[in-house]
Amino acid sequence: MEEIRLEGVRKTYGREVAVADLDLRVEPGEFLTILGPSGCGKTTTLRIIAGLEDPDRGDVHLGGTVVFSRERGVIVPPERRNLGLIFQSYALWPHMTVARNITLALREKGLSRQEIEERLVSALEKVQMDAFRDRYPSELSGGQQQRVAVARLIALRPSFLLMDEPLSNLDAMLRIDMRSELKQLHRDLGATTVYVTHDQIEALTLSDTVVVMDRGVVLQKATPFDIYHHPSTLFVAEFVGNPRINSFQTRLRRMNGETVADFGDLTVPLAGEPATKLDHVIATLRPEDIRISQVEKPGWLKGRISSIQPTGSETIVQTESAHCRFTVLQSGFFQARLDDDVWLRIESRSLNLFDPETGRSLAV
Ligand SMILES: Nc1ncnc2c1ncn2[C@@H]1O[C@H](COP(=O)(O)OP(=O)(O)OP(=O)(O)O)[C@@H](O)[C@H]1O
Ligand SMILES: [Mg+2]
Repeated sequence: MEEIRLEGVRKTYGREVAVADLDLRVEPGEFLTILGPSGCGKTTTLRIIAGLEDPDRGDVHLGGTVVFSRERGVIVPPERRNLGLIFQSYALWPHMTVARNITLALREKGLSRQEIEERLVSALEKVQMDAFRDRYPSELSGGQQQRVAVARLIALRPSFLLMDEPLSNLDAMLRIDMRSELKQLHRDLGATTVYVTHDQIEALTLSDTVVVMDRGVVLQKATPFDIYHHPSTLFVAEFVGNPRINSFQTRLRRMNGETVADFGDLTVPLAGEPATKLDHVIATLRPEDIRISQVEKPGWLKGRISSIQPTGSETIVQTESAHCRFTVLQSGFFQARLDDDVWLRIESRSLNLFDPETGRSLAV
């Protein structure tokens, strides 16, 4: 198991900065996901690691070896980087059978016939595609093609696994199945993995570490838990989480010897002292951290239901009060009607505060 390390990597296209002075270390055997909106530089970063794109400057190390350094004049080509790649288009060769697609790289490595056959059989078994070895890609469904791409990696046993939105062409059900197969693939291979997606659910479910990027810059690198609960910027808070996080312009003031966030309709005491002198901040609150009651409770905020969306396992409820609109997530079916009165309670420990100018977290 080996590390991936980028140092001061920069890539521009004309005047556009795709990746800005990126330092990134992926621990040996780690599953790291780069998450961010379209155009933020995810694919460019992955292609630089793969050697499909040369950065303008900076170094790329794979497993302790420099594979790219303009300063030192080192450029190791992709096929000598011991990589397994899965990109959005599965990139199976259309004119080759499943078996041939899987074994092509093994032949190029000069493995024996017997070794190749053994690896082929066990990889096909692993993804339950044994019966399809003589078919051509055009005779397979999208999900089956994706399985062949996974089998190819299983057979290849690379040290590094690079995946770019590998699930985006699949329908919702298949995507969930393939998600657990990719996680299993990572576990089986033990390969150091970089996964690229704009889907925050994939990032949270698959990764040891998530890197959130925007406009070529890393905003936060943290565990899924910390990305979700302790976002470093308002951008991260709003990008991650579905339904979207609640955010409000809020005034901080002293009341009875403690600092409270004043939402207009209600005040919420902060769990600790904020590290700021600002009195106007942005407060965020996850929809599942708001409690909702259909009977009046003293001290809770009264609101009115403006929308109800049951998804089966949970219900997204939107409420309006004089000054605030909240999105609330309730588990199960929430039996209520539009315009019903409800009462809301906010737990102060789930509030995050941000500087309205810079968007940076003001950790409490
Ligand atoms: N070959 C290229 N020529 C010119 N500009 C490019 C090229 N490749 C990428 N870019 C630009 O660099 C920026 C980063 O592109 P990149 O493909 O890395 O984004 P991404 O995060 O993968 O987006 P998406 O989620 O849409 O795939 C974009 O603004 C893009 O327009
Ligand atoms: Mg991309």
